[in-house]
Amino acid sequence: MFTSSIASYPDRGPFGNNKYRGNCTGHIVSDLIDNYLPVGGLFVDPAIGGGTSCDVAASKGIRFFGTDLHSGFNLLVDDLLTTVGEQANLILFHPPYGSMIPYSGNMWGVEHKHDMSRLSDEDFKAALKLALHNISDATLPGGHYAVLMGNQRRKGVYINWSSITEALAPDPLCDEIIKLQHNVASDSSSYRKPIVKIMHEKLLVFRRSPNRNTVVSLEQYVSTLENNLAQELLVTLRRVMQCSSWSEAEILSLISNVYAQTSLHIDWQGLVQKLLTSHHFINHNGRFSLA
Ligand SMILES: C[S@@+](CC[C@H](N)C(=O)[O-])C[C@H]1O[C@@H](n2cnc3c(N)ncnc32)[C@H](O)[C@@H]1O
Repeated sequence: MFTSSIASYPDRGPFGNNKYRGNCTGHIVSDLIDNYLPVGGLFVDPAIGGGTSCDVAASKGIRFFGTDLHSGFNLLVDDLLTTVGEQANLILFHPPYGSMIPYSGNMWGVEHKHDMSRLSDEDFKAALKLALHNISDATLPGGHYAVLMGNQRRKGVYINWSSITEALAPDPLCDEIIKLQHNVASDSSSYRKPIVKIMHEKLLVFRRSPNRNTVVSLEQYVSTLENNLAQELLVTLRRVMQCSSWSEAEILSLISNVYAQTSLHIDWQGLVQKLLTSHHFINHNGRFSLA
């Protein structure tokens, strides 16, 4: 059982196939179950990989449904709830960490166009969001789903897949467990420059909200668009006014490229005027500066 937000399992335990690349320790699955699965509840894993969660579930004698793209279930095409037959109390999703380890055509079968490990970064993000919605819909309201996700560094850029997961999930985060990594492949690599080795993954636990579905999520997203745009514009105005005062015409000219490039029908002038008359700014003879 998790008793703090840090977990470390130097010995991965006897669960699943330890040759399946990117496999996880069964201990974290066991702790997750102990914290979040009610007695008699159903535990689901839609991407079992080498079967770690199957073995943990069997050792605990709990109700379990596990599948994977290698077994014919596709999170990007199939409805998880229909496949399982009932909403789960707890779902564990351990996705590929972007394209870090390819699965189809490497760990199993031939290359599959919906294998999440074979997508570009942008397509992976879209696929991750779709998978998270599918998983949320297959979770009982009030139940939980957890995503085990690691980050990666590619050509000097840190790709924070766990933060991206947090932003894409349609339900509130209720726990974040930092799991220390042991025996990672990069341990044996030598680098020309000193680097900070990534030695952790995150287990993000989300609580399924009642009354949410993908259309409600879209409605919420659209309703925040206008507010987000105003926030971004306000930050831009405040930042440029930290350097000098500006007239309205100068501000509009400064951001003219931004609105020339978008096809969104936005009253940019009206929005700028509204923000300039807010309490953040003072108008001195037609020139605006910070209040
Ligand atoms: C990190 S591995 C899971 C490892 C597993 N937890 C273990 O301990 O062995 C990720 C899995 O996601 C699966 N996967 C990739 N794309 C998928 C998709 N579209 N639907 C379902 N599973 C997918 C891969 O086949 C792979 O087995």
